[in-house]
Amino acid sequence: MKVAFYDAKPYDREFFEEQNSNNSLEINYHSFRLSIKTASTSRGCEAVCVFVNDALDLSCLEELAKLGVKVVALRCAGFNNVDLTAASSLKIHVVRVPAYSPHAVAEHAIALVHSLNRRIHRAYNRVREHNFSLNGLVGHDMHGKTAGIVGTGRIGKLTAQILKGYGMRIIACDPYPDAHWADQNEIDYLPLEDLLPQSHLVSLHTPLTPDTHHLIDDEALDLMMTGAYLVNTSRGKLINTRALIGALKRKKLGGVALDVYEIEEGIFFEDLSQDGINDDELARLISFPNVLVTSHQGFLTVEALSEISRVTCTNLTRFENGEPFLEGTVVTAD
Ligand code: NAI
Repeated sequence: MKVAFYDAKPYDREFFEEQNSNNSLEINYHSFRLSIKTASTSRGCEAVCVFVNDALDLSCLEELAKLGVKVVALRCAGFNNVDLTAASSLKIHVVRVPAYSPHAVAEHAIALVHSLNRRIHRAYNRVREHNFSLNGLVGHDMHGKTAGIVGTGRIGKLTAQILKGYGMRIIACDPYPDAHWADQNEIDYLPLEDLLPQSHLVSLHTPLTPDTHHLIDDEALDLMMTGAYLVNTSRGKLINTRALIGALKRKKLGGVALDVYEIEEGIFFEDLSQDGINDDELARLISFPNVLVTSHQGFLTVEALSEISRVTCTNLTRFENGEPFLEGTVVTAD
């Protein structure tokens, strides 16, 4: 089966080529993203393989259907970039990799918390300049503080458990609380408006849905504890960036760490070091000394990349052989 593979990076190719070493799939790797503008490049392919910033809206999916594409294989867990209603009416199957490594993302969230709290990003740069001063690098003990976990699915739970190991008190919110897990780990569920004022650290682990879009807005930021840290490894659109910049300017927050950003398309995963960036809000965010941004790298571990390529190649091969997709990987419209 021919597969058009979009937004391909060297690390994607490495892991997919290893997984597909018998060449059972004929994969055309494209470095550009899939959108209505590039959809014609899937001509002759039965499947497209896409990532978080490919734009599979109605017009793109209609074009894919016309060209004979029957499967969209997402190399990620989130599927907010695919119009599922359109896909199902066009009879295009959508599959994803639901849980390639929740550990990878949870551990990255923790890495961000530590860097932010102990100013590792600043210390690293200073020492390279032979500046061994400690001024401005004062952090906090995490032990004894409260962490608010927003969304206790796979990644939120792991993040909570790691933070619990530091001796933090954990509170959480989720429309579908897991009472058994909460009991086992001594975690209290609270509504978001009660969680925010009590948390020294707020870490976001919800999917992007109409309900969670701009979950963190002016009102939510006002509710947060002054000096709190906010960490987002989920989806950029959970936070209203304009409101976040306002909160940082008035020193409401102690620090912000983002692995995701509201408008990643065309910026994240790209080397813009020669060109600079045109997004003024991102440029402003990066300019704060207490803001740390990574380029959606939470998933980027050997284990996660192996699992992503394994699940994706297995699903595509199964489809080719007329077999059902792997359990739990099919995404359908509500
Ligand atoms: P999951 O589906 O296991 O858990 C999501 C949880 O969020 C569920 O328990 C759900 O009930 C809860 N939730 C939904 N709406 C909520 C709301 N309004 N308030 C609070 N909780 C709410 O998902 P998982 O695997 O834990 O992933 C979480 C998110 O992490 C993904 O949706 C994805 O956006 C992001 N992610 C980021 C990666 C990265 O590289 N930075 C990689 C993988 C996932």
